[in-house]
Amino acid sequence: MLDTVRWLTDDNRILDHAPPTDTALLPGKVRLIDQTQLPTSLAYLSLDAPAAIHDAIRRLVVRGAPAIGIAAALGLATAMQHHSGPPTTFLTEAQRIAAYLETARPTAVNLAWSLRRAMTTLTAAAQHTSALPQLKQTLIREALNILAEDINMCRAIGEHGVPLIRPGMGILTHCNAGALATGDFGTALAPLYLAHAAGRAFTVYADETRPLLQGARLTAWELQRAGIDVILICDNMAASLMRAGKIQLVIVGTDRVAANGDTANKIGTYGLAVLAKHHNIPFYVALPRSTIDASLPDGSHIPIEERHPDEVRRLAGHPIAPATVRVANPAFDVTPHNLITGFITERGIITPPFAGKLV
Ligand code: MRU
Repeated sequence: MLDTVRWLTDDNRILDHAPPTDTALLPGKVRLIDQTQLPTSLAYLSLDAPAAIHDAIRRLVVRGAPAIGIAAALGLATAMQHHSGPPTTFLTEAQRIAAYLETARPTAVNLAWSLRRAMTTLTAAAQHTSALPQLKQTLIREALNILAEDINMCRAIGEHGVPLIRPGMGILTHCNAGALATGDFGTALAPLYLAHAAGRAFTVYADETRPLLQGARLTAWELQRAGIDVILICDNMAASLMRAGKIQLVIVGTDRVAANGDTANKIGTYGLAVLAKHHNIPFYVALPRSTIDASLPDGSHIPIEERHPDEVRRLAGHPIAPATVRVANPAFDVTPHNLITGFITERGIITPPFAGKLV
């Protein structure tokens, strides 16, 4: 459906999974949809320098928890293609770049998760070989495995979530947890894609999601492109639509879930969960299990990214507030687990009590 983040080989093939182990993998670059250009234009960027990949993640050229994890793993693989030093330095250089890429954004655990997974696989391979071509291949293959697994997990999330989507429903989502935020299909949007493919008719209400408008620019764009009935609303309209009986279900994605089920997602999610509880509307969070951080007992330990004040003072580049007014700009908030009806994962739906189930 959407090739949000892929491996572009030097001979121009686009890969979304690793070929069989006896096939040599070609060097290449990370190819990204430039999400800062949507919905005006569908443009692609091909990157290989660590600083360019770090910058793309930080500027939200690629964004969404699973997608930044995939981009970072592919980024590490492409950066290390250029390593020409002695094999003994390969591991330390890869570690240095992985540690650097991990600093691009703090909240989504998938970024650290995928880089650590790539480094663990590389370290294991380095026990058996010091041949540079093989070590380079190991990093490309593992990054492509992460990408392919994400696509499969998103599809499975969709299959588990599809029974929640009944004909005629109004479904509210926030930010973008769709194909643009993952390898494909999305997390929160995956059940909607599958229900639509099965011929079920429903309406999606997409919050515009200030300050960076991921709902307006990305969710509305990708749902409309797929032929799904979508109505764009401003963030301050949800309560009134719920009260009017237009919304029967809320599904959102997440950047990190603590062991007790407390859930970090795009700023504004917590407010929606409170509203859903008040109006007795089920509130589901969709995620691959790589988004669970069982090392954190609860949501108070999740690092929340604070972004530049100009994102609030400006709208699409235009000033909308005094240039020096003080601003708060937390990119995420934490929804307490007791407001969550269930987690839709690739292995099924997890319902309360969550303790001990999120590992
Ligand atoms: O700042 P963003 O656009 O990266 O925020 C993304 C979200 O909040 C998504 O809901 C979350 O990463 C889940 S994506 C499947």
